[in-house]
Amino acid sequence: IGLPDIDSSLVKITTTTTPKTRPPSSKLIFGHTFTDHMLTIPWSSATGWGTPEIKPYAPLELDPSSTVFHYAFTLFEGMKAYRQEDGTVRLFRPDKNMARMNRSAQRIALPTFNGDELTELIKKLVVLDSEWIPKEKGFSLYIRPTLIGTQNALGVGPSSDALLFVICSPVGPYYASGFKPVQLLATTKFVRAAPGGTGGYKLGANYAPGVVPQKEAAKEGYSQNLWLLGDEHALTEVGTMNLFVAFKQPDGTVELVTPPLDDVVLPGVTRDSVLELAKAHARGETTIPGLPQKLKVSERKLVMADLVNAEKDKTLLEVFGTGTAAIISPVDKIGYEGRDIAIPTGSDGLGDISRAMLDQIVGIQTGEIEHEWSVIA
Ligand code: COI
Repeated sequence: IGLPDIDSSLVKITTTTTPKTRPPSSKLIFGHTFTDHMLTIPWSSATGWGTPEIKPYAPLELDPSSTVFHYAFTLFEGMKAYRQEDGTVRLFRPDKNMARMNRSAQRIALPTFNGDELTELIKKLVVLDSEWIPKEKGFSLYIRPTLIGTQNALGVGPSSDALLFVICSPVGPYYASGFKPVQLLATTKFVRAAPGGTGGYKLGANYAPGVVPQKEAAKEGYSQNLWLLGDEHALTEVGTMNLFVAFKQPDGTVELVTPPLDDVVLPGVTRDSVLELAKAHARGETTIPGLPQKLKVSERKLVMADLVNAEKDKTLLEVFGTGTAAIISPVDKIGYEGRDIAIPTGSDGLGDISRAMLDQIVGIQTGEIEHEWSVIA
């Protein structure tokens, strides 16, 4: 109480004297290349948020006893910036990322902050490094705000010190295969998140434990896990993404379903965007080209039996994942209890709904479609 919050007007900017060579966009691998600058903001429980600095990208120096290394005091966001032909740089729904980052911070007793002030600083960073944002279709700047505990102490408790930093990575399509559909293994041996746990927060601790299940799925020929919960095998997420399923109803209505958050599903920004856009279309407020005229949008519990039955009835229309990195990831096969559920996809790998949603969201992100979600930096 009374300690300073993040104040973007105090930012200290030091530009690099040794700019890096930018690789051609065709050579980019997701998250392997970083821009010339980064943003850092220190925090301590005694003095609050300190001076924001934009400075040359460089390693951090941390004491080996820092809480981040031992008890996973780390959380992150993923957001994207797009550059238009005229040089305008746009962020997509940064307010959503700021709200979620503060929620994550609260969950692991790291400090919260004024999200508008951090957004201002991120704008300064991406404008400074805007030459790094590829302009080609499907390319963007992936922004990674991160908050870590930096107290030098091995006791388990709230970290008295923290560091917020932001790094940026020019990226192309998340999967090398573009929108080629992925195959999922419905996973019952491992769980991603349990009720009351941390699955609904973007904590670093949620991601490392998913790697071995992913490797096991890969060994069986599937690219990602379909994460299930409980005896009924309720669907929750796919890989590191949210999940959507479309069904045909007897009267011809298409129902687009995503599992409810219920504290076990990450509140994805792309998930929310798909829901908002599809609901506005379903209400008749807007018309999104390519979406079925009779559309119903539901956040409701989905169990594997629903998919098995829908495959049998030929009412299973589409399955796709949503996330900031890949935006939309269509699914054409789900391995479950020793057999595969087949899901139809079009010749471009997408389905009618995933294609319409992808076009609409990318149009908004790049500024081709005017929308309040797209914020000029
Ligand atoms: C996503 O955007 O889908 C993510 O969860 C980011 C991923 C690189 C961890």
